[in-house]
Amino acid sequence: MKPIRKAVLPVAGLGTRVLPATKSIPKEMLPIVDRPAVQYVVDEAFEAGIEHIVFVTGRAKSAIEDYFDRAFELESILRAKDKLDVLDMLEAARPAPGTMSFVRQQMPLGLGHAIWCARDIIGDEAFAVLLPDVLIQGEPGCLAQMTKVYEQHGGNVIAVDNVPRAEVSKYGVIAPGERSGDAITMRGMVEKPKPQHAPSTLKITGRYILQPQILALLEDQKSGAGGEIQLTDAMARLMQSQPFYALEYQGTDFDCGDKLGYLRAIAHYALAHGTLGAGARSVLQKALEETGS
Ligand code: G1P
Repeated sequence: MKPIRKAVLPVAGLGTRVLPATKSIPKEMLPIVDRPAVQYVVDEAFEAGIEHIVFVTGRAKSAIEDYFDRAFELESILRAKDKLDVLDMLEAARPAPGTMSFVRQQMPLGLGHAIWCARDIIGDEAFAVLLPDVLIQGEPGCLAQMTKVYEQHGGNVIAVDNVPRAEVSKYGVIAPGERSGDAITMRGMVEKPKPQHAPSTLKITGRYILQPQILALLEDQKSGAGGEIQLTDAMARLMQSQPFYALEYQGTDFDCGDKLGYLRAIAHYALAHGTLGAGARSVLQKALEETGS
């Protein structure tokens, strides 16, 4: 089985749930402790062996492309000031030349349409999708855990996590079948079901390994929940001819497209930070004391 080399990160969304913060900054560039949220997702992809990332962007998202490029003026000032440690840090975070592509989703027609916009760069090989709104803290990262399942079973692999039944209508939800090892064979999936109609409480978390045939199905995928072209609907069609496995990954996910989810991510990543963790703990405790909580 060939390793998964390419990953698609759809970053065209407007971030309306975190306005006004996202009025002039892409939501993916909002900082989580000391780096933009998207950096964590890119790190998760590279950790899993991904060699090339395809960003599906939109208007007003050029800050993401700039972030992964050199910053000549900044770098020359840092060099002149002998701030070599900072320069080294920037160097280490910068992807190798030619390892990122950017395509535009010209209209916000849905997640399925966004993935379809990457079809020419993906070509004819299995690929990963990581939704950058969702950060997942895990050791190893969620996509690396999924890659292991893919190496064992092939097919398509989706990360899932249990949620309270009252919350299922915010997500795609799977119908689980038998468990084989770490993976659950899937029987179906549905996007944003009503709680009483959901086939389980296992939500689709925002990490996927998909076979390239999904791209042809997305070509004529009709709009579904919310009037959008849904990836979940195309996956449900692909399931008629290919196996799908769900992985209940080890880790914690954070919805950074939501104000409280974003704050929760900051708190967790700050506490887990190698050099800032201890300081963050006392800052958070002090804040609670100072506000009388
Ligand atoms: C998307 C997917 C959904 C998934 C969710 C995870 O929904 O369509 O299946 O459960 O991401 O965050 P969205 O959040 O774009 O509405």
